[in-house]
Amino acid sequence: MHIQSSRISGFHNLSMSERRDKVIEIAGLGREAADHLANTGNLEAGIADSMIENAIGTMNIPLGVATNMIVDEREMLIPMATEESSVVAAVCNAARQCRDSGGFITSMSGSLMIAQVQLIDVPNPEFARLQILENKSDIKEVCDETDPVLLKHGGGFRDIEVRVLEDRHAAPMVITHLIVDTRDAMGANAVNTMAEAVAPMIAQWTGGRTYLRILSNLADRRLARARATWTLDAIGGEAVRDGILAAYNFADVDPYRAATHNKGIMNGVSAVVLATGNDTRAVEAGAHAYAAQTGRYRSLTHWETDRNGNLTGMIEMPMAVGLVGGATKSHPTARISLDIMGIDSAEHLARTFAAVGLAQNFSALKALATTGIQKGHMALHAKNIAVMAGAIGVEVESVAKELVNRGKVRVDIAEEILKSMRRG
Ligand code: MEV
Repeated sequence: MHIQSSRISGFHNLSMSERRDKVIEIAGLGREAADHLANTGNLEAGIADSMIENAIGTMNIPLGVATNMIVDEREMLIPMATEESSVVAAVCNAARQCRDSGGFITSMSGSLMIAQVQLIDVPNPEFARLQILENKSDIKEVCDETDPVLLKHGGGFRDIEVRVLEDRHAAPMVITHLIVDTRDAMGANAVNTMAEAVAPMIAQWTGGRTYLRILSNLADRRLARARATWTLDAIGGEAVRDGILAAYNFADVDPYRAATHNKGIMNGVSAVVLATGNDTRAVEAGAHAYAAQTGRYRSLTHWETDRNGNLTGMIEMPMAVGLVGGATKSHPTARISLDIMGIDSAEHLARTFAAVGLAQNFSALKALATTGIQKGHMALHAKNIAVMAGAIGVEVESVAKELVNRGKVRVDIAEEILKSMRRG
């Protein structure tokens, strides 16, 4: 049905339940929908309402836990929030198959974020560049004054970098990068505030006009890395290893394949980023921009053979995540997820996320290079289809099993199976 108008004056001033009733009324939905939305589950309505504007409810998705992970010699459980079947199982399987060779070893390049200040309308951009560079100590002072708490935790301004960008469509711009150590914070708020504080000074020194003042999600000074070895015995021999290598080579030379390959990596990374209340879009934007940094969009992972013929994998990607601030603190499930992981620093968190991405990629490539993705995927997908067909309780498992047996995982067939099952 088409609604009459999406203009609802004063909508944001209503209480959450008033907003909900209004939407239900306008959309022509019934009491059942209203009651469903009124149940906010384990996220208190008041918290949801304070997190975003115009809240009318919450959206639950499953939280699973990946087992078998060893990260830097520590056993870890990984909470993952995802709507996609196979994602949790993929991490469990990859982690199990590299346990005997020690699991995942991780590292991090640092916790530096970049904020950008755009300067336009400068006739002499190279001259302006030097003017800005000469004032590094004033810039540091202003930046650090904006965030004494960050300073107290050992963070703060570290450096500047100034670039002149020229393009045939636009006049030259002078772009200042503030490089800031944000420690355990993701840091968006901290660096955005710094960029806004510094911009008027840059305009004054150069006589130009400052424009955008915002962080860069290409957090290439905050790279998380993970590596692991899978022995030939663990993965089932040379043919499997060579299949994985061939799949990787495909992704590394072809952006069409690399997009899917990296999407699989982000299946794992985004699920654990979301479970901990971190910003999935920031991590995703950073990942894809980094994957294109050589000028061609490529794989975020690399796969090789070691001197014993075993399969080695590594991943390196921007990981701007934090432990303080935002939903990591306000969302109760995020806090429990962090407790499940036993995390004590943003760096530890970021490194673990990288390990999850590598694990996910291993399982996807192994499945693709051997049985194909549908076999494993379909077993789990069948359960979703069974639910879509109306199966409840124990019926879900039975209908799903029958769908897989028949080799046809379709809603119409699930309905047929369900009907005959209910007839007895
Ligand atoms: C599906 O969500 C993810 C995969 O397509 C990843 C890949 O192809 O590497 C299986």
